Amino acid sequence: MIKRFDNKHINNNITFTFDVKDVLSGFILSNKFDKIFILTDENTFKYCFPIVKSCFIGKKNILKIKSGEENKSIITLHYIWDFLLENRASRASLLINLGGGVITDLGGFAASTFKRGIDFINIPTSLLAQIDASIGGKTGINYGCLKNEIGIINFPQKIIIDPIFIKTLERCEFISGYAEMIKHALLFDENYLDELFIFFPDKNTKIDYNYLSVMISKSIDIKKYFVKKDPFDKNIRKALNFGHTFGHAFESLSIKKNIKLKHGDAVAQGMICELFLSNKKRNFSLKKFLYISEKIINIFEKKNIEEADINKLIKLMLYDKKNISNKINCTLLENIAIPVINNIITDEEIRETLFFYEQLSK
Ligand SMILES: NC(=O)c1ccc[n+]([C@@H]2O[C@H](COP(=O)([O-])OP(=O)(O)OC[C@H]3O[C@@H](n4cnc5c(N)ncnc54)[C@H](O)[C@@H]3O)[C@@H](O)[C@H]2O)c1
Repeated sequence: MIKRFDNKHINNNITFTFDVKDVLSGFILSNKFDKIFILTDENTFKYCFPIVKSCFIGKKNILKIKSGEENKSIITLHYIWDFLLENRASRASLLINLGGGVITDLGGFAASTFKRGIDFINIPTSLLAQIDASIGGKTGINYGCLKNEIGIINFPQKIIIDPIFIKTLERCEFISGYAEMIKHALLFDENYLDELFIFFPDKNTKIDYNYLSVMISKSIDIKKYFVKKDPFDKNIRKALNFGHTFGHAFESLSIKKNIKLKHGDAVAQGMICELFLSNKKRNFSLKKFLYISEKIINIFEKKNIEEADINKLIKLMLYDKKNISNKINCTLLENIAIPVINNIITDEEIRETLFFYEQLSK
């Protein structure tokens, strides 16, 4: 087993490359795993596995699960554990998570808990997973309708990021990943925010993948910066939750109602709400808030909030992992690149925010 809690594995295990095969083959050759398991979903099996297939000489064990947030569940986790057991995975085995954030979260958790932890690596294939989900060691599953309620922070032995995978991503998934890039820019770099708003390709414009690669690498650096400062999410790393107090509640509600809502779309909605609160409670400039909200609304589909859902959303926010003593705790911004963690928000403020959002999206 590779040692995983040293600084190297927390921060220096990310390889950004344009030759995933070369990096993966090198990694496999330099470690002596008895068996290799590859976790995919139907899309990453179809589009991503062929890209790395030749790295595996001899027998590999491929696990294929159904794609979708609803499958980041205890049932799928059972399936993975059973598969590992039936195929005699040992503590000398490796699990490769080849996919989006659902695969890296779920596979990371399965590997971390199987036989008290086997080695795993992430090869993120969605934009969202490349710039966010695969980095930082957060693994887990949804429980009931609650997002990421069960999980562990455990760092993969390696993360290999190659923008080649993004080319087969559906546009709606590309947009979902874009939300986390906007979040990174809001937390860290105003110029990057302008760059993202200018770059965003409309439906009829082809994506410039070379330029996108540069931005992927920028976002990776921003995520790494926060993880390095606070690997176990006790302090400043909580800034990365900007947009997620509301965002996770929107997402949980959609799971409950069996309505599809992409993670990034929920976070985009959440960022508008949390920018509203930033203006109210942290003096974030009104002009900037309105400008950014308009840009976000233009990129992400408008979502309506039904009045009957407001109490449900507040209830869901009470389960947020950042809360302290049953008080809803949120990351806000004083300005772009000046996040403030641990802001307590009241039910009344949440109602006011949701009311504002509902007006805005009309
Ligand atoms: N652990 C973390 O720090 C962290 C951070 C952010 C988000 N997340 C989690 O990540 C998840 C969202 O990630 P996601 O948006 O990648 O979801 P996802 O894994 O469901 O992937 C989105 C869709 O894209 C498909 N796909 C992935 N790569 C593809 C490719 N190269 N070509 C074609 N199709 C491809 C998938 O099959 C899926 O249908 C959520 O569960 C969220 O909670 C985790």
